[in-house]
Amino acid sequence: MGEILTMAMPKGRIFEEAVVLLRKAGYKLPPEFDDSRKLIIDVPEENLRFILAKPMDVATYVEHGVADVGIAGKDVLLEEERDVYELLDLKISHCYLAVAGLPDTKMNDVAPRVATKYPNVAEAYFREQGEQVEIIKLNGSIELAPLIGLSDRIVDIVSTGRTMRENGLVEYERIVDVTSRLVVNPVSYRIKDVQIDELVTRLHKVVSMGEL
Ligand code: PRP
Repeated sequence: MGEILTMAMPKGRIFEEAVVLLRKAGYKLPPEFDDSRKLIIDVPEENLRFILAKPMDVATYVEHGVADVGIAGKDVLLEEERDVYELLDLKISHCYLAVAGLPDTKMNDVAPRVATKYPNVAEAYFREQGEQVEIIKLNGSIELAPLIGLSDRIVDIVSTGRTMRENGLVEYERIVDVTSRLVVNPVSYRIKDVQIDELVTRLHKVVSMGEL
């Protein structure tokens, strides 16, 4: 019996697609993956242990080595810049980061404000544009900010575009496309290279079939 590989999985909207991907790659995941509040799920038959984490925290667990590998959105990886290797683009959970705001509005000339869950990405983006803005960090429901006068613009994830549309916001600029990635702890990659390479090979096969 091989060593156990610990994988950090993002709870929420990426989770279901990640489970489908793993099952297509031949991993037999128990029904607990479909309906459970458990935060640790052991699958001894596959030599796997899963940690169910907040998406923003996946790379943190992997960086600290409490998870060997993890599935993290490119948005999180850009924002957090954790010391992990990105091994594979899983091509799931397609979305993008964009600048949005109320229609036909200019940014405040004197003190433009940008609300976001991604302060580092937003800061870097506006700096590259040569614009100095005040970043207001929020933890969710970012689209509220321009509606209630907290900010001129937001930087947020757009998936279907429904949240923006239903709140009367428009997109001004697209910053970067986002998909989920398989990341690995550098030390784990040295120690558990055989298991990790097998995981990558199996996932890569499914991803390259383009069925997802
Ligand atoms: C994300 C994102 C947008 C929304 C975009 O929020 O921040 O609000 O999804 O998806 P859509 O384009 O399909 O409408 P999430 O639902 O993760 O919740 P949050 O407000 O807590 O960030």
